[in-house]
Amino acid sequence: SIYPEALSICKMFDMSDEQMQDVVQRMTKEMSMGLTKETHPRAVIKCWITYVQDLPTGKERGKYLALDLGGTNFRVLLVHLKSEYDVDIQSKSYVMGQALMTGSGKDLFDFIAECLANFVQEHRVDKEDLPLGFTFSFPVQQLGLTKGILVTWTKGFSCDGVVGKNVVELLQEAIVRRGDLRINIVAILNDTTGTLMSCAFKKHNCRIGLIVGTGCNACYVEKTANAQVFEHYQTSAKPNMIINCEWGAFGDNGVLDFIRTPYDKIVDKQTPNVGRQTFEKCISGMYLGELVRLIIVDLKERGILFKNIDSQVLKQKWKFETKFLSEAESDPPGSFRNMGQILDQCGIRGATDSDKACVRYICETISRRSAKLVACGLVCLINRMGVNDLSVGIDGSVYRFHPKYHNLLTEYMNKLLKSAVKFELVLSEDGSGRGAALIAAVASQK
Ligand code: BG6
Ligand code: GLC
Repeated sequence: SIYPEALSICKMFDMSDEQMQDVVQRMTKEMSMGLTKETHPRAVIKCWITYVQDLPTGKERGKYLALDLGGTNFRVLLVHLKSEYDVDIQSKSYVMGQALMTGSGKDLFDFIAECLANFVQEHRVDKEDLPLGFTFSFPVQQLGLTKGILVTWTKGFSCDGVVGKNVVELLQEAIVRRGDLRINIVAILNDTTGTLMSCAFKKHNCRIGLIVGTGCNACYVEKTANAQVFEHYQTSAKPNMIINCEWGAFGDNGVLDFIRTPYDKIVDKQTPNVGRQTFEKCISGMYLGELVRLIIVDLKERGILFKNIDSQVLKQKWKFETKFLSEAESDPPGSFRNMGQILDQCGIRGATDSDKACVRYICETISRRSAKLVACGLVCLINRMGVNDLSVGIDGSVYRFHPKYHNLLTEYMNKLLKSAVKFELVLSEDGSGRGAALIAAVASQK
């Protein structure tokens, strides 16, 4: 049985069905503020237009380069769309230390250009002048397919000299500074957009791209006529526009305070972007481990958990990794195999089975709330689109590696959906590679 004190903390994270419906309603309101011209400037869910108006047909072909910045790894990719069933992707991940994430913008873009230069040489495509799609997974106000202004950093990045600038231009300038690269940047996109495109290449009913990784966000297919921020929303011949919701910022105006706990507030205070990305901080990989750690430390300090065990490691901020939640919840009932290893890594020796069961319970609680909130977001989008048969393309380390996330999401979505909707949650392979290439393909044909 779980310690009563732990149960009462976890209860704060347990959202009722009514609260979930309430979240859907509030989000619906915030989304329409983002889409409407007059309210857009003060909306928190910005609903940025992406200038991507066509989903792939499956007929796109050719060789493309892609850059992927904003997830766990920075990657350069070479994508060859050979046929609908044959897509060859070669990629390389580069380690991006804290210093690059928080240093100068110039250093960041010089680093990106250097990786790109090494990559094209290694793959012998340095003379080919290939079109490049730049997956840049931060809130960007797009002014065209190749023009995007960084609105604010998220996910622990804080490089100076980038907010308010066109990031395509910053990349181009870094390329020019080197002088040895022939690169043709044809599109900038968000990882959610890449994920949607990548999934839609095979599943023609794909309407949503979702990331539950380091950060959390979604994009979806809106009617162009509703995307009022688009200058041609009334006259465009194309019926659809992919909207990058940037829903991570939901709640930044206080509308989610009714579900936030004191622990959420502590996590927020520890981040470089205090008061921002409220929804994301309850959901995504960058924060889940820290929420668990804060609860553990609280229970330990109150003399309930890990009695007489020293836990210096766990006292350090961010030391409980989000992958521990996935590992702990992969232990079969009654077994604490992974849990033993996790506690070992946290320097905790001699924990009792009650302690271990308690930590697992905390992990489950935090994961469950994350999945409930994402389900609210997806249902909000599905209701908005009014579709009753769709696929959702999903990527990100939390969705990919958590043993129960997919099932939890499915369960809560079914609970919330009012009418019968057939939906399929699909792990989207390589959004930033295949997806970026598909957008580059569509863009460079014009
Ligand atoms: C990757 C995508 O697989 O998932 C990236 O290619 C995306 O574009 C990433 O940003 C998100 O997951 P995480 O866990 O790396 O943040
Ligand atoms: C953050 C970014 C957003 C991105 C998401 C997932 O919320 O602001 O652009 O899509 O993380 O990586």
